[in-house]
Amino acid sequence: MVAPIIPILKEIVGEENVVTGEEALEPYSHDETFGLKFFANVVVKPLNASQVSEILKLANHQKIPVTPRGAGTGVSGGALPCQGGIVLSLERMNKIKEIDLENLMVITEPGVITGELGKEVEKQGLFYPPDPASLDSCSIGGNIAECAGGPRAFKYGVTKNYVCGLEVVFPTGEISHLGGKIVKNVTGYDLISLIIGSEGTLGVVTEATLRLLPLPRCKIDLLVPFNSLTEMTKAVVKIIHQCIIPATMEFMEKKAVLACENFLQKKLPASEAEAQLFIELDGETKEELQTQYERLGEIALQFGAMDILVAEERPSQERLWEARRMLTEAITAKSPIREREDVVVPRREISDLMSELKKLEEKYGLEIISFGHLGDGNVHVNILKGEVAQEEWQERLPCLIRDLFQKVIDLGGVISGEHGIGLSKKSYLSLGLDLTQIELMKRIKQAFDPNNILNPGKIFDLSRTP
Ligand code: LAC
Ligand code: ZN
Repeated sequence: MVAPIIPILKEIVGEENVVTGEEALEPYSHDETFGLKFFANVVVKPLNASQVSEILKLANHQKIPVTPRGAGTGVSGGALPCQGGIVLSLERMNKIKEIDLENLMVITEPGVITGELGKEVEKQGLFYPPDPASLDSCSIGGNIAECAGGPRAFKYGVTKNYVCGLEVVFPTGEISHLGGKIVKNVTGYDLISLIIGSEGTLGVVTEATLRLLPLPRCKIDLLVPFNSLTEMTKAVVKIIHQCIIPATMEFMEKKAVLACENFLQKKLPASEAEAQLFIELDGETKEELQTQYERLGEIALQFGAMDILVAEERPSQERLWEARRMLTEAITAKSPIREREDVVVPRREISDLMSELKKLEEKYGLEIISFGHLGDGNVHVNILKGEVAQEEWQERLPCLIRDLFQKVIDLGGVISGEHGIGLSKKSYLSLGLDLTQIELMKRIKQAFDPNNILNPGKIFDLSRTP
């Protein structure tokens, strides 16, 4: 079905930007999700919105699946061509078009690496806060597709809080400009919000206008070890209650810290503690931050903090964060086969969630290591296969995940905070949403994409018209 259109694709984007053959297609067959691999028939690399439009018109006419792809760092399989067809890689659309100092906006193409965009705006004294862990390799387009978060979401919010305008190509090929360099907009339905986090199923983002902030002048990082995870979560709730809003409130349980020590082959600060809290305070003056950290320190000590390690300069700040940044690799090194979840509960319920994780670990005999964005109630639950036999693993894992998700929902939470549903959580969607919502979402999808060609098979299944 795809072979006959390859010459037309070559005409649209140029021969060198059409990839075929198993070896060349391999890098596009996976992302960072464990165990998922799907080959496209062809990868196409357009340079602008009109090329994207031509490709989509052609695919829509021929009813060929098209999977948009950013940098392939996703962890729910969103960018994988699970039904074959075309992978639309936005990697060549990697230019920052404008940094507007008067309006505090940046206009960027989707293939720009998030960390690079951050560095460019920083040169102008500006700040783009969203900071997913894959900052140095993920792209803005993928961040918009998944509504990526990150540690700084606690104070600054997630990707959707920064998108003011989008150029989108819809699955039927129309190019549309939504919003712009504007911070208020209630003109009709909020299509920008609908596109953000839609996991590449409703349209292809070919340009984004993002809001920027002034770059905070000072930062102080704190590492606060606790001997009890429960007391640590109580301290966090109290800190928030006292209206101290650090940029980040991250945590790692002891097993996560030990995995990092093993991986880095060196002793890390306070690794004997049951749990570590990483706090970054940012603001205009050192004095302002010092007042905040003294108040914060008092609260932490009331809840049994063992120590408060302070880093005021870049090198010591980097050292303090080293383990948190290495975490994904460190846990993978401990157990290459593992499942990672990113559940969210109201902050006050985190200690309940933590006790449930202990129970699930015992019930299913599978090791669980947790870390994440404590201030947001967003916990990365890593379930490790370790030495467990493959058959046992396959049997126990889905039951454990189901129990976990049910508990999260009972606590008033959701099954994914930042990684998305994609392929890997699709079978659990009906736990997280009621039937009315799922049916409404399917009807929205049909309105955007009547032939179900754009990223089919993600979030939920929908039959393609023959
Ligand atoms: C993190 C990724 C896993 O926070 O979301 O490290
Ligand atoms: Zn995260």
